[in-house]
Amino acid sequence: MVPASPGSIAARMASRRDVDTVRAERKPGDRQTIARLASDEAAQRVRADWIRAAARLGYSYNFTWLGVPVIQHPEDIVVVQELIWEARPDLVIETGIAHGGSLLLSASILRLLGGERTVLGVDVDIRSHARDTLATHPLATSVRTIEGDSVSPRVFAEVRRIAAEHEARLVILDSNHTASHVAEELRLYSDLVSTGSFLVVMDTLINELPPDLSADRPWGPDDNPALAVEEFLRTDHRFERAVPLNDKLLASAARGGYLQRVG
Ligand SMILES: C[S@@+](CC[C@H](N)C(=O)[O-])C[C@H]1O[C@@H](n2cnc3c(N)ncnc32)[C@H](O)[C@@H]1O
Repeated sequence: MVPASPGSIAARMASRRDVDTVRAERKPGDRQTIARLASDEAAQRVRADWIRAAARLGYSYNFTWLGVPVIQHPEDIVVVQELIWEARPDLVIETGIAHGGSLLLSASILRLLGGERTVLGVDVDIRSHARDTLATHPLATSVRTIEGDSVSPRVFAEVRRIAAEHEARLVILDSNHTASHVAEELRLYSDLVSTGSFLVVMDTLINELPPDLSADRPWGPDDNPALAVEEFLRTDHRFERAVPLNDKLLASAARGGYLQRVG
């Protein structure tokens, strides 16, 4: 076959096919691609601007999972799905239920994994609409709830009792976002994460938001989940920040909050 002359349409199409082949074969999570993204100043500027605009405009309140509001950015929804599929927990523990959408997100992936798997949600105030939604949803049999302060001895004793009935456990913390509350949740709930599985701390983005965006909240840029995570990782060497996982995120509200139990 006569080779296409350089610059011809045929040559350009052939090299386009090469590029497409290489891209199609690139595996998600490719470390080089992610490292380029994480060190790209323009991308990181856009990321920081984007999360501020998103927080100002209440972006995280725009979505539902299987018909129920889930207060998460879509990127975090995708990553939680990735983690549950990878870790194959038989128990997901989540603090912070709100409408129940995030419990149903976990429950739906657990249901697809098959077998006996449950999500356990904890909330200081389970609203009646959330209770009704969770009780009547097709995934209801995969969901359990406990009402009360996630760090109270009564609630944590009950969580620990249920956790003891399961082997592979993954934890998501998304309740009160003050540094002290998250630090206490990390201290208590980290013990429940099985080795190799994940501990997710939501809403680390508060650390990067201007103070006016949390003016009506007890948390803010000086008091937030990201600070609790930093301190936790300094002292608890059973856990590491899952590097490619955090670095691949742009439109996440939990960048830096995805931890893996390694010890
Ligand atoms: C951000 S919302 C949870 C959003 C939910 N995970 C989702 O993705 O849709 C925070 C929830 O935490 C609950 N909460 C606040 N303080 C708490 C505490 N000390 N213990 C347990 N839940 C708490 C609130 O009642 C609220 O429903």
